[in-house]
Amino acid sequence: MGKLLWEFSLGYFGKGLEPSSDYCEIMNIGESLVKESSNSMNELREPKFASEGGSDYEVYIRTDELLVLQPEPATWKHRDELLFTVVHQSSELWLKLAVAEIDHAVLNIDKDLIQAASRYLIRARDCIHYTTTQLPMLEKMTPWDYQHVRTALGHGSGFDSPGFRNIRESLKVLVTSVQQALGRADLTLEKLYLDVEANESLYSLVELLVDLDEALMIWRSVHVKVIERTIGGTVSGTQGTPVEVVRNLRDRSIMEELWDVRVHLTERANRELASDG
Ligand code: HEM
Repeated sequence: MGKLLWEFSLGYFGKGLEPSSDYCEIMNIGESLVKESSNSMNELREPKFASEGGSDYEVYIRTDELLVLQPEPATWKHRDELLFTVVHQSSELWLKLAVAEIDHAVLNIDKDLIQAASRYLIRARDCIHYTTTQLPMLEKMTPWDYQHVRTALGHGSGFDSPGFRNIRESLKVLVTSVQQALGRADLTLEKLYLDVEANESLYSLVELLVDLDEALMIWRSVHVKVIERTIGGTVSGTQGTPVEVVRNLRDRSIMEELWDVRVHLTERANRELASDG
């Protein structure tokens, strides 16, 4: 519609028509263009999947099924069950996407398509970031309200999150695949970090592994703070795990060497580079 009106105005001014003399003719053209465009807009509103019921949006996104997956008010132990469920379910969805992107990146790395792989890993990293940014929403529950929500959870625990379980598995495969790519290029991590200019794409790829590792550490740090704000830092969770244990898992890495290489570079610099300090 916008495009049609734009073309109409271009034609109007482009032809150098006088508004007074050609006003009627132009209004007629305008009206027929508007009618034509609203006809085609009406056509666009007709569902293509009409036989399946609902609009194309509802059918394709499967909103009917999606929106009944949260506990209904009639069964709530507390109204914050909706908030709690939405944050968890959307985290599972972002992690599902992250896993798919990591798996696809691995297929590319194995064919030495490093830049393509990096593109998918950027998406995976952003998925983890989105799960982190929604965590503070849980801190909007009062600690006492959460105690009521908690009674609905049974022995449900994040340790059983399929999203986190699958991402851990996918990351193991990714790490192996990156190590093999470095091997094919006859590079150790230290060699790579000492000569980045000669190996830009592999360097970006390895740095994306660091990004992913760090993104998970940040998620875990924020998660621990959510736990401490909600149930306290010296109690146990719904499966009996002391919060202390979760706190100690924060800096667990998918590949320690990614962090060690920095230490080796500092040690090397201390030995080899002159310092003024
Ligand atoms: C009010 C919000 C939350 C509280 C109070 C909470 C509490 C806890 C506690 C106490 C544990 C230790 C295990 C146990 O349950 O005994 C745990 C573990 C875990 N939770 Fe949560 N959690 C919350 C939100 C979330 C969300 C939104 C996710 C996202 C899926 C999540 C994922 C996990 C994971 C993956 C673990 C395993 C430990 C780890 O990998 O760091 N939690 N949570």
